[in-house]
Amino acid sequence: MIYEYTTSSSAETIELGRRIGERLRGGDCIAYIGGLGAGKTTMTRGIAMGMGLEDDVTSPTFTLVNEYRGAGLSLIHFDMYRISSSADLETTGFFDYMDEDTVLAVEWSENTADALPPGTVTVTLERTGDETRRITINGDERFADIGD
Ligand SMILES: Nc1ncnc2c1ncn2[C@@H]1O[C@H](COP(=O)(O)OP(=O)(O)OP(=O)(O)O)[C@@H](O)[C@H]1O
Ligand SMILES: [Mg+2]
Repeated sequence: MIYEYTTSSSAETIELGRRIGERLRGGDCIAYIGGLGAGKTTMTRGIAMGMGLEDDVTSPTFTLVNEYRGAGLSLIHFDMYRISSSADLETTGFFDYMDEDTVLAVEWSENTADALPPGTVTVTLERTGDETRRITINGDERFADIGD
């Protein structure tokens, strides 16, 4: 199913992310599509909040991967911007992180499309103005009716 939402500020994108995060389960993978400044890291900040994780989310641009460990679920946040081969992907530990109490969130997932697990939820963010975004979720019923 495809669900479409719009947000008018980064705060609204964080809130939509929070609602997504509340609905995530271990083994889920969120794959983002959307260019520079679309709001992928911003939404991940909300997802972490919704998962009950307290650490501030920062961009994994330089580290390639950031880990947020919780008592229950953990969130592993990747930036695949500079990943162009399966050998590169191995170095991020992508496959080692897949676990029953882990959620993966992948920026620039188009670079690793072949490696995404079955059931991956695709979140597409499109910049429709300075402060507005069209956000499309391709996933199951959990993500229906989570807008305002
Ligand atoms: N509705 C909105 N939703 C999300 N971000 C917004 C919105 N309106 C404005 N912004 C701004 O757009 C920027 C989004 O940056 P963010 O780092 O989240 O993008 P990104 O998709 O992760 O980019 P990159 O590919 O460089 O990692 C922030 O400066 C944020 O404040
Ligand atoms: Mg980012």
